[in-house]
Amino acid sequence: MKIYPFFLAAAALSVSAQTPQIDNIISQLTLDEKINIVVGANRLFELPPDAAPGMPARPAPDWEAIGKIQSQKVKPGVVTAFTEGRVPGAAGELIPVERLGLTTMILADGPAGVRIDPVDGHYATAFPTGSLLSASFDTDMVESMTKAMGNEVKEYGVDVLLAPAINIMRSPLCGRNFEYYSEDPLLAGKIAAAYIRGIQSNGVGTSLKHFAVNNQETMRNGVNANVSDRALREIYLRPFEIAVKEAQPWTIMSSYNKINGVLASENRWLLTDVLRNEWGYDGFVMTDWWAEQDGARQIKAGNDMLMPGSVHQADEIRDAITSKRLDERFLDSCVARILNVLFKSPTYNRYEYSDAPDLEGHAAIARKAATEGMVLMQNDDRTLPLKPKSKIALFGTSSYDILVGGTGSGNVNRKYKVSLDEGLQNAGFKLDKNISEKYTSHVAEHKAKTEENFWTVPVVPELAISEAEAAKCARANDAAILTIGRMAGEGGDRHTTAGDWYLSDTEKANLDAISKAFRAAGKPVVVVLNMGNIIDMKWDTQADAILHAWLPGQEGGNAIADVLSGKANPSGRLPMTVAYNYTDYPSSANFPSSDGVDGSVDYDEDIFVGYRGFEASATAPAYPFGFGLSYTDFTYSNLNAARSGDSITLSVDVANSGKKAGKDAILAFASAPESDVAMPVRELRAFAKTALLKPGASQTVKMEIPVSDLRYFDEFEQTWKLPEGTWTISVGDLSTQIYL
Ligand code: GLC
Repeated sequence: MKIYPFFLAAAALSVSAQTPQIDNIISQLTLDEKINIVVGANRLFELPPDAAPGMPARPAPDWEAIGKIQSQKVKPGVVTAFTEGRVPGAAGELIPVERLGLTTMILADGPAGVRIDPVDGHYATAFPTGSLLSASFDTDMVESMTKAMGNEVKEYGVDVLLAPAINIMRSPLCGRNFEYYSEDPLLAGKIAAAYIRGIQSNGVGTSLKHFAVNNQETMRNGVNANVSDRALREIYLRPFEIAVKEAQPWTIMSSYNKINGVLASENRWLLTDVLRNEWGYDGFVMTDWWAEQDGARQIKAGNDMLMPGSVHQADEIRDAITSKRLDERFLDSCVARILNVLFKSPTYNRYEYSDAPDLEGHAAIARKAATEGMVLMQNDDRTLPLKPKSKIALFGTSSYDILVGGTGSGNVNRKYKVSLDEGLQNAGFKLDKNISEKYTSHVAEHKAKTEENFWTVPVVPELAISEAEAAKCARANDAAILTIGRMAGEGGDRHTTAGDWYLSDTEKANLDAISKAFRAAGKPVVVVLNMGNIIDMKWDTQADAILHAWLPGQEGGNAIADVLSGKANPSGRLPMTVAYNYTDYPSSANFPSSDGVDGSVDYDEDIFVGYRGFEASATAPAYPFGFGLSYTDFTYSNLNAARSGDSITLSVDVANSGKKAGKDAILAFASAPESDVAMPVRELRAFAKTALLKPGASQTVKMEIPVSDLRYFDEFEQTWKLPEGTWTISVGDLSTQIYL
């Protein structure tokens, strides 16, 4: 990389936000130039004035016009203004202050890979989505996968990837759970920290989002979340705290919603008192897109950057400063925090990006990662793995048109996708010709009639399979595989309706027919779940094996076949509770609103979210948090804990007592001593993934629990407190536990 003269000077600048050089630059900036750094460049070609936030349906941005401007490819390494464009399809960038050598900064989505326009062959790798990553319980795997993803961020000329998205899965109906991680804050925080480390190891940034309490899509631009301080601290802010302290994301994205009446992007308690003064965060905060609230209040709260930036916001800040309503020192501190990040960005350092990352190598990484998070939920009589070269009757439209990832900002413009039909044939299985042809033509016919873009991915309606067809298939094949698919996306929540939380009538009838026919023929039925979330599972008695494949990325069909064939031994565990009844979820009483008009939502369940709630009310779930089967068996022994100072070191011996090599995720829970404080029965306090253990091999797994992690937040005294007494540590998922 060529070293530019001012690069050397700038390198010194990136030492810390308040180094004299930054102050020196700020003292030279005009007010408009400061606003160029703080308000995104989208205002250079303003969208229709009614593109105001909070409007239930605003006209889609004129992507055509934006794309035309952005698609002018400019030679990498040149200081460019927005209008010359650098990365077609990037979500946002800054207007450079060329007079002082301050470049633009390019921000692009999203959590499953770089989302940019596929012009000039700029495809990116569609990696598995969030819920699969957390289901792996494997921070090393996540970090190595995002190391590859971060390479694409850098080689396509992007400075900050708008990811990871880590809001707590308060309800299974939240539309964006596919890109979120868990109902548990520790799992979400640790996976996020690993994700951030992997991306940022490339010298590019991340944007930890959406900060905070953005747990639904319904009326996301204005819904007010009423949540207790204790639930905020222990559940909803906790994953962000872990990720900030352990991985220092370059940026954070504030959320659209209100928290206890105050918009997150205007919330000084959240963005300055907690994030900076308590947690010591030193990056910058940007708004979510079109979160056009009160610009002056956002700046004052410590929301440093307003994205993607509108004329209205720039005017508002200029007026507030000139009318002295807003002290310019607030604006200067935002500029300083942004410059502090800009100076370490590839664009500022004139990195000559190649525009040609190793997509083939990354596809292989995406495939391997996908197998690490799949969850084997049922495997009666060791139905799986399938015998080699088995003849398969493959049902379900998603088997032939796999759902790779979600829609909206979390989508990725990938070059191809591998569906399960292809994956199974690549793995040497034979597909029933009649059924395959029937589905293939049905899918092709439907795809010909619909168009796909990053906001909408049309899901092919299910085909009805008659009892006669099912019986014919049962005679001619060794097994049935049926995929149930659910698309997921930004901007809308799911519903407890047929075809969403429940099976559709056609899915139900198909499963009835297929299960009846194959059981009569003494042959197994395997169900694959291709979705970023979970559904009602009352039908599970009709299946012999169930594999949750999540939204597994562009290599999904191969990855699922790797697991079904036994090439990969599934080792994922559920990062959320699967209830028997939707109403068993504590949040079901208040989702997506509490007052019926979507104006506010009361988090009345407080800290009792997910398994914390199920265990408090002794409600048996269908599948507990942390549940996951393997093709082999593991035994646990010698669980012991030693406390020294602020840390408890756990160790447990894990042995592979089965016949296949495999990995296991070890979960450690802590239960507080009896006290007059409402405490969950137990809480996840550590987890670790074993290496691949051969049959007979064992590993001593060590984990650490900081004693300070055992504290609860005392709302009355507004401080963290540690219950005195004897604590119980248990290891295993919530259905099978060994105790210390
Ligand atoms: C969207 C999403 C956010 C995304 C941003 C840019 O509305 O909420 O996750 O990064 O806008 O596309």
